[in-house]
Amino acid sequence: MIRETIVTTIDASGRAHLAPLGLIEEAEGWVLAPFRPSTTLDNLLSVPFATANYSDDPRIFAGLVTGRRDWPLIPAVKAPPPRLAAALAHAELAVVRVDEHPERPRFHCKVLHMESHAPFEGFNRARNAVLECAILITRLHMLPREKVDHEIAYLAIAIEKTAGPAEREAWSWLMQKRQSFYAEN
Ligand SMILES: Cc1cc2nc3c(=O)[nH]c(=O)nc-3n(C[C@H](O)[C@H](O)[C@H](O)COP(=O)(O)O)c2cc1C
Repeated sequence: MIRETIVTTIDASGRAHLAPLGLIEEAEGWVLAPFRPSTTLDNLLSVPFATANYSDDPRIFAGLVTGRRDWPLIPAVKAPPPRLAAALAHAELAVVRVDEHPERPRFHCKVLHMESHAPFEGFNRARNAVLECAILITRLHMLPREKVDHEIAYLAIAIEKTAGPAEREAWSWLMQKRQSFYAEN
């Protein structure tokens, strides 16, 4: 079971970094598995805490994978990394063990604190489509273009049928990124 969240980490100077990341469920907490190289990985090695933000805001997921990094943060309660002001809920995590791996080390975390801030108001297909497309956009360099085009054509149906303004804006950022990637590659 993997939950798609937005993870905040900090570097040794306290500078916060946000990245969409899957939290892998295990009996006593969550596992974070960032690929090398990444800022999230470097930060976890120097400050072994993370804050997992549970959000369904499509603009934050799409924004972070298209270079829009400036989302308001507020201090967390027990862990040093701050939380997203817009999080519906968040969990503050401490790393308890690291499984080393050349490509994808695994950080086993325990939950220090959890808090809810706003209600979850139900699924929206366009938001799910933005989430799936954001994952595709981070993998353009690994996937055949045909597969990317095919999947985006399918996801676009949910955008056309069920999106509001935030979902359309998020989708437009992802489509711009796809276009600029293929213009250069
Ligand atoms: C929904 C979603 C889930 C993701 N999950 C992971 C993950 O579990 N591990 C990972 O390395 N990258 C994951 N990514 C990609 C990272 O967010 C992306 O590579 C990011 O640049 C991390 O690198 P950074 O810490 O340098 O910003 C995910 C992206 C999305 C949109």
